[in-house]
Amino acid sequence: TRVALAFSGGLDTTVCVPLLEEEYGHDEVIGVTVDVGQPEEEFAEAEETAEALDLEHYVVDAKAEFAELCLDSVRANATYQGYPLGTALARPVIAEKILEVAVEHDCAAVAHGCTGKGNDQLRFEAVWRASDLEVIAPVRELGLTREWEIEYADEKDLPVEGGNEGAWSIDTNLWSRSVEGDDLEDPTYVPPEDIYEWTDAPGEAGGEELVEIEFEDGYAVALNGEELDPVELVEELNELAGAHGVGRTDMMEDRMLGLKVRENYEHPAATVLLTAHEGLEQLVLTKSERDFKTTVDEEWAQQGYKGLVDTPLMASLEGYLDASQSKVTGTVTVKLQGGQARPVARDSEYGVYSESAASFNTETVDGIEQADATGVAKYHGFQERLANEVLENAKES
Ligand code: ARG
Ligand code: SIN
Repeated sequence: TRVALAFSGGLDTTVCVPLLEEEYGHDEVIGVTVDVGQPEEEFAEAEETAEALDLEHYVVDAKAEFAELCLDSVRANATYQGYPLGTALARPVIAEKILEVAVEHDCAAVAHGCTGKGNDQLRFEAVWRASDLEVIAPVRELGLTREWEIEYADEKDLPVEGGNEGAWSIDTNLWSRSVEGDDLEDPTYVPPEDIYEWTDAPGEAGGEELVEIEFEDGYAVALNGEELDPVELVEELNELAGAHGVGRTDMMEDRMLGLKVRENYEHPAATVLLTAHEGLEQLVLTKSERDFKTTVDEEWAQQGYKGLVDTPLMASLEGYLDASQSKVTGTVTVKLQGGQARPVARDSEYGVYSESAASFNTETVDGIEQADATGVAKYHGFQERLANEVLENAKES
């Protein structure tokens, strides 16, 4: 029987290939690498590894779909515990594609190389278990450790990279690059500069640069006046912002299973787009819309983190996003400098902003005068003043 394996050419998925035969009795394994914007080298590595393993290998392009989901996440200002969702959003897209290939090639099963400690197993399987195919998770089911995998790969002469590249578990897509494992698992360990590939050291990245992002209905559509499709836009912005050291996160993350783990991320474009988008919302949404939206945004991010993007709840949340984002059209200028991305100008025809109303230089607006605020000022804090007085009197008596 045939099994379709989510294959990256990394350590975990490479050891899965012989194990699917030896331990699960699938005599035909096909490897599927889904392109969600990993760098070219990763495909070359996957290709080479597949060849060395004599593995039937397919590469499926899902860049455009994934980029669209990333830009959807910007409309929801989506971050989980402070970092942009990258791996989380890529998983459901990858899972769908692998399922398609599996069905097309008459596979009886689908397999992934995720551990039983992480989030990715849950995200993949949330999609796969909607099908009739058997789901196999060798690393989890056989209780493999990376140390065991390295030894096994060595014994079997499997084509895996040595050194740190082999020890770290790296997950890359258009939106972010995650590096975890080995020394990095220790929360007290200060990571060396070479874990980073997309961002220059913020202190050393000199100078500053302005980038202008244009949004339409909350979607980023142009960069510095040039209309770009989502993939191009994110790729280009990753380069621009990465050169200024923008978008690094070193954090303790709470995984779905409750484990805290040390994570390192790079996400230059995501940081700029999220910052710019929020900058534009500040201008065009009313305070009550913005306040309510934080609830919608937080829920979107929580569901996105779980990889549950195709659900009734998400569809409802998208309803609020569609309504609110219909005004998030305009441009934001962001300054990139020393690891920071800061909005420094914003412009929209939907701006809920009246210069004459807010200015200190005009007296009357819409028939409202400064003196009209006197009554409001008298009442402001009235209940609190009263409460304090009551408390004091009660204590004295
Ligand atoms: N902890 C992050 C997440 O759940 C990143 C996981 C990345 N996976 C990896 N194999 N490096 O989204
Ligand atoms: C893994 O455990 O396989 C990677 C990390 C994660 O899924 O969170």
